[in-house]
Amino acid sequence: MKLFLDTANLDEIREGVRWGVLKGVTTNPTLIGKEEQDFLPLVKEICSIVEGEVSIETASDDPDLLIRQGHEIAQIADNAVVKISISPNGLSATRKLSDEGIKVNVTLCFSPTQALLAAEAGAHIISPFLGRLDDIATDGLRLLSDICEIYATQGYQTQVLAASLRHPVHVVEAARMGADIGTMPFKVFEALVKHPLTDAGFKKFSDDWDQAKPHLGELLPSMQEA
Ligand code: G3P
Repeated sequence: MKLFLDTANLDEIREGVRWGVLKGVTTNPTLIGKEEQDFLPLVKEICSIVEGEVSIETASDDPDLLIRQGHEIAQIADNAVVKISISPNGLSATRKLSDEGIKVNVTLCFSPTQALLAAEAGAHIISPFLGRLDDIATDGLRLLSDICEIYATQGYQTQVLAASLRHPVHVVEAARMGADIGTMPFKVFEALVKHPLTDAGFKKFSDDWDQAKPHLGELLPSMQEA
């Protein structure tokens, strides 16, 4: 499963890239707004930092504006993906843009029927929002499982992007179910690497190394500095 950051924060994205595991970024109007920066330079910078795909959301449900915004977003960078909310107009725009070879991420998916429609419209990505379903006492992981099963059974090429992930268990279960991509806030991304036994184990090894070092004779040059 490819790991994406759900953010428009450049520091978070640079840190994810530094780890060597970040495969893409998803943004939305809320995340863009939080950064209080000029839109176009910000999304261009994100696309230049990340090698993988960057989803940039349209801001309309008007049929003509969706197509125009889709064309303009696709021209921002080679790795820009057009994010469109699911609706009749959104599906129509997805069909048209996809037929032109433009990659579309159909977002705000909360049902298997919406995911079916997005795949039939030629979407490159479908984004089911798990956490927001959990918030209203509905099983977000069940939706993801249904979509993965339907897409596998039908042989759809549309990638399943598990979105609105709120904690590491969401990430683990999304990977187990076969989601192609998981997108998450930086705090969830950071939590994936942490374990108290790793911290305690590293401290013990470091302490033991410091004690043993004077008695170990010839060391590797880089170990003499540690
Ligand atoms: O960007 C789409 C989605 O991941 C939003 O998540 O946490 O706002 O429900 P959240």
